[in-house]
Amino acid sequence: MSSARTYDFVIAANRLPVDRIVHDDGSVEWQTSPGGLVTAMESVMRGREAAWVGWSGQPDEAPEPFLDNDLLLVPVPLSADEVAAYYEGQSNDSLWPIYHDVIVPATFKRRWAAAYEKVNRRFAQQCAEVAAPGATVWVHDYQLQLVPRMLRVLRPDVRIGWFNHIPFPPVELFAQLPMRHAILNGLLGADFLGFQRPADAENFLRACRRLLGARTKGDVVDVPETDRRVRAAAVPISIDAGGLAELAESEPVRQRAKEIREQLGNPRTILLGVDRLDYTKGIRHRMKAFGELLDDGRLSADDTMLVQVASPSRERVAAYRELRHQVERTVGNINGAHSPLGSTAVSYLHRSFPREEMAALYRAADVMLVTPLRDGMNLVAKEYVTCHEGPGALVLSEFTGAANELRQAFRCNPHDIEALKNTIMAAIEAPAAERNRRMRALHRQVTRNDVQHWAGKYLDALEHAPEKPPAP
Ligand code: ADP
Ligand code: F6P
Repeated sequence: MSSARTYDFVIAANRLPVDRIVHDDGSVEWQTSPGGLVTAMESVMRGREAAWVGWSGQPDEAPEPFLDNDLLLVPVPLSADEVAAYYEGQSNDSLWPIYHDVIVPATFKRRWAAAYEKVNRRFAQQCAEVAAPGATVWVHDYQLQLVPRMLRVLRPDVRIGWFNHIPFPPVELFAQLPMRHAILNGLLGADFLGFQRPADAENFLRACRRLLGARTKGDVVDVPETDRRVRAAAVPISIDAGGLAELAESEPVRQRAKEIREQLGNPRTILLGVDRLDYTKGIRHRMKAFGELLDDGRLSADDTMLVQVASPSRERVAAYRELRHQVERTVGNINGAHSPLGSTAVSYLHRSFPREEMAALYRAADVMLVTPLRDGMNLVAKEYVTCHEGPGALVLSEFTGAANELRQAFRCNPHDIEALKNTIMAAIEAPAAERNRRMRALHRQVTRNDVQHWAGKYLDALEHAPEKPPAP
């Protein structure tokens, strides 16, 4: 299919919205890709005539561009070596730890950095190929930080935005990266840079001043040795609240939520965790707190259950494999010590579920535990308050982007296990009227600031950059 220079709106993200799955019998299936980026962007892009440039999730394969309704999906090929070096190595073993407070140590390898540059160039070339004259190209996330500058060189006529779905680290951590200058210069190829929190944008501006000697005025950077100015500001992402609420209120999902409670033996309290199995999510801290509450006798597995959904993630990276062992060992220990006959204290589900099942789980849960040690936003928190009806409660780590907005949650510091235990108990024991009041406020917050609102704000900022857009 010829797609040369025909699209006025192009987005580039490491992954396409669908992953190509090849089964053992050779049959091929496309499944929704994991993670918050796709959850958010899939609904923003639905119904738009646009191109989405990204990887198919399989090494050594480059299917031809194909149409998914009005959206042209443009697969970018990655060899097995590039998956290992660009994706697992540089993106998820160098950048990811640095951008998440070095919860695990970062590893730096020169060949990973070289592969990152090579793959970013391929993405830039692919964007240059499909973008119409004067098009808008919206680049996403930490895997593609060199693309804005590379694309500007290839196509000075296009407007370029970049949005970071994860945190941007303080300069003291960022400065460790051997490719720190290349990343800052790469990003400064954009017209507008969007971040989850004001603190992330400030970290970026500080890095430009300290490491490039760039001048900044307010949220605008003067790009050294050019007459270009780039704006960097917070535009916190959200979810398709309307679509999800409709799904959660549908009869099949209501029924399924009831069924889930029955299947679990109608416990008085269902606690729920939903995460990619990632060390940033604080799953071990959450388990420790829950296990100790059972040990201390403050909770009993006879009437309380923790359901932990953990979708498989980045399983070839050592820190992720180690986390999986630790979590599974802990689940085993808690269940061994506390599960009643015929039931479990922790129900651990290491797989992905359809949206309907996730919505039913959110509806069924009395208390949602969102305890990351660091998270750009955390869409799960927003999904829970959108789906749940009645007196639910959200326990939310202050180290998530979502905590900036969801002020009526039960806030916690997951590093402080004693305080986390107390917060979980407070959420369980708060009077129904208080839980109702908090949930209503949270629900309103997400409904008013949904992902369509976010995309509108982002694109408005991109159009007017480096100036601020006029107030609505
Ligand atoms: P991240 O982008 O780091 O994965 P977010 O919380 O922002 O974290 O987004 C995670 C997204 O993935 C949410 O939309 C959530 O519903 C979805 N998700 C997480 N685990 C599963 C699972 N096991 N099955 C289906 N969807 C999942
Ligand atoms: O924003 C965080 C992120 O890395 C996204 O880029 C991606 O959607 C998600 O997490 C899942 O990660 P991966 O693509 O590595 O499976």
